[in-house]
Amino acid sequence: MKNLFDVNGKVIVITGASRGIGRAIAECFVDLGAKVYGTGSKESSIEWMKGTDITGYAADCCVDGEIQSVLQSIHQKEGKIDVLINNAGIASNTPASRMKDDEVNRIVETNYISLFRSCQAYYKLQKNVGGNIINFASVLGLIGSPLAGVYSGTKGAVIALSKALAIEWVRNDFRVNTICPGLVETDMTAMITDKPLVKDQVQAAIPMKRMGLPEDLLGATVLLASDASRYMTGTSIIVDGGMTAQ
Ligand SMILES: NC(=O)c1ccc[n+]([C@@H]2O[C@H](COP(=O)([O-])OP(=O)(O)OC[C@H]3O[C@@H](n4cnc5c(N)ncnc54)[C@H](OP(=O)(O)O)[C@@H]3O)[C@@H](O)[C@H]2O)c1
Repeated sequence: MKNLFDVNGKVIVITGASRGIGRAIAECFVDLGAKVYGTGSKESSIEWMKGTDITGYAADCCVDGEIQSVLQSIHQKEGKIDVLINNAGIASNTPASRMKDDEVNRIVETNYISLFRSCQAYYKLQKNVGGNIINFASVLGLIGSPLAGVYSGTKGAVIALSKALAIEWVRNDFRVNTICPGLVETDMTAMITDKPLVKDQVQAAIPMKRMGLPEDLLGATVLLASDASRYMTGTSIIVDGGMTAQ
């Protein structure tokens, strides 16, 4: 039987591949034989990709036009982009009552507006042949948590947007799905992992009694990138050690 999860030879673009979850995903797809393109916000973020099988592009997703031209240039070179993974994102732990417009705008721009621009640019490039989009949201787009108001709002919006695009673009043979990680050990959660007592408390509240690792997101991502998920669109996969099951 053919490997249902085969991604060998697929052209896969991952935004925010310079660190954390995006990096783990990029390295995983290289191991699985895909042609991998990864972005970071600036040249220094993607420096380490030189000499690897990941082709790096610097693109600040908050600057209109940057991610669009990266996608265009990859599409021109490869003739197709099989899978687009919108993973770049930022968080904040500023209390809602103290959050200033600048920070609100930055989070909304990075996590939502730029993700939409990326989906839109990809659709325009692939609309005659179909496509596959995987958007990174968060369990915080599904449940409430302190110090995460605006971030949670953007992640809830990513889930809703992905469902809407899945329906709007289904006739063009696009699939659009979302992955919702729980708490994962990356730079984004350093505010937890840097403080052993806080980390212990956080982990005690997770049914599996540990925070996730970037590698824990690989299974869901490979599933959605491969034909194994060919009848899945407009859905979310939660990968959270049981956090939202309680
Ligand atoms: N870690 C968690 O607990 C967790 C939980 C739920 C959901 N998520 C989501 O999973 C995704 C990845 O998170 P992570 O923990 O891996 O984050 P991370 O380690 O902080 O890495 C963030 C990535 O996004 C890129 N990025 C940030 N701002 C950007 C911009 N303006 N333009 C282009 N790229 C930008 C960064 O590039 P640079 O290196 O250039 O800055 C980096 O590659 C995010 O969407 C996040 O919201 C994470």
